[in-house]
Formats: sequence, structure tokens, C-alpha cells
Amino acid sequence: MADADPYGDAVRELPPNVGERPLALIGFMGIGKTTVGGELSRRLGWTVLDTDREVEAHSNMTIREIFDWFGEPRFRELEHEVIAAEAGHTRLIMSLGGGAFIQDANRQLLLERCTVAYLAAPWSHVSRTIQRIKNTRPLLRGRSLSELEQLLASRHPFYDQAHVRVSVPGRNPSQVAGRLLELLDLAVGS
Ligand code: S3P
Repeated sequence: MADADPYGDAVRELPPNVGERPLALIGFMGIGKTTVGGELSRRLGWTVLDTDREVEAHSNMTIREIFDWFGEPRFRELEHEVIAAEAGHTRLIMSLGGGAFIQDANRQLLLERCTVAYLAAPWSHVSRTIQRIKNTRPLLRGRSLSELEQLLASRHPFYDQAHVRVSVPGRNPSQVAGRLLELLDLAVGS
């Protein structure tokens, strides 16, 4: 999405039948995908699913244990299995782990079967929100702020292939959810 504000609201191109596809929320760790997913679920009456929680339930391990014992590649396999199994359902909101959309197979599948929404914010915002979660995410442990800034910069072009982008700074989760629905309705109606 080439525009003045690379983290601002934007609709790239919506897929057909937005109301019948799962709505997939993507974006960096700590941006609020789970909370916004809950808001959307309440408003739409759709089921919400968090891929991290599904991976934990299926493997009977925490994300941290999977990373520590088997490494990131194994986590990515489990994450892909969840996404492939769920991405076809209707009336479903999927809140995805921050690295899921970076994997080619997931990205292709999600763009094909879901409406993908990028919850976006520049580093100045993300650098504050990750403080709250830095001890709970394996990929944040032991990384300097400048490494994480680079990680966001390297992921942004992938995230930005989403169908729609919603800016998070200055909005609470309910406002983010409301704005996303507005963008989807506007684009659907136009
Ligand atoms: C990851 C994000 C996490 C979780 C795992 C890896 C990532 O999910 O899937 O720790 O690669 O960004 P959240 O985005 O919900 O923190």
C-alpha cells in the first residue's frame, strides 16, 4: 500500500464475500490482535480464535516450552497446521501470532481464504507496547530494542500485503474494531 502514511488506515483490495470469509488479524507482537479480536467477536457475533492458544491446546505445551524444547521451526509447523485447519470457516475471527503471516505458505492461504487485516503502528508506538509483554514472548527475550525495530521494519512489507490496514495509535481496541468494520463496510458498499 504505497501512501503518505505507511501505518495509516488503507484498503488495498478487498476479496469477494467479505462477510462469509474468516477475518484474520495480523500485526506485530503486543499490538492488540487478541483484544481487538474479542471486540470484533462481540460486535459481529462471530467466534474468535487465537492461533497461539490453539497451538498450545493441540500440543499441550506453552509457546515458550515449544520454542525452548523444539525450536522456532517446530512452532511454525504447529502454527501452520492450526491456520490450515481453521482458515476455511465462516463467522470466524482469527487472531494470528505476529510471525504467522511472514511464512509464505500461511500468507498465501490466508489471502486466498480470509479477509486479512493488518493492525499497524510505527516503531515509536510498538516500542512502548512491547514493554508490557517482553518477558512473555520468546522472540522478544534477549533482543535489543534496535534489533526489534529492525524486526518490525523487515516484517512490515509482509504485513502490508493484507487486504486492509488499520492504524492503532490513538485508538482503544473498541475503536480499532469499529474502524476496521467501517473500512470493510465502506469498501464492500463501494
Ligand atoms: C511471535 C508472536 C507471538 C507468538 C510467538 C511468535 C512472532 O504471538 O506467536 O511468540 O513471531 O511475532 P503474538 O503476536 O500474539 O505475541
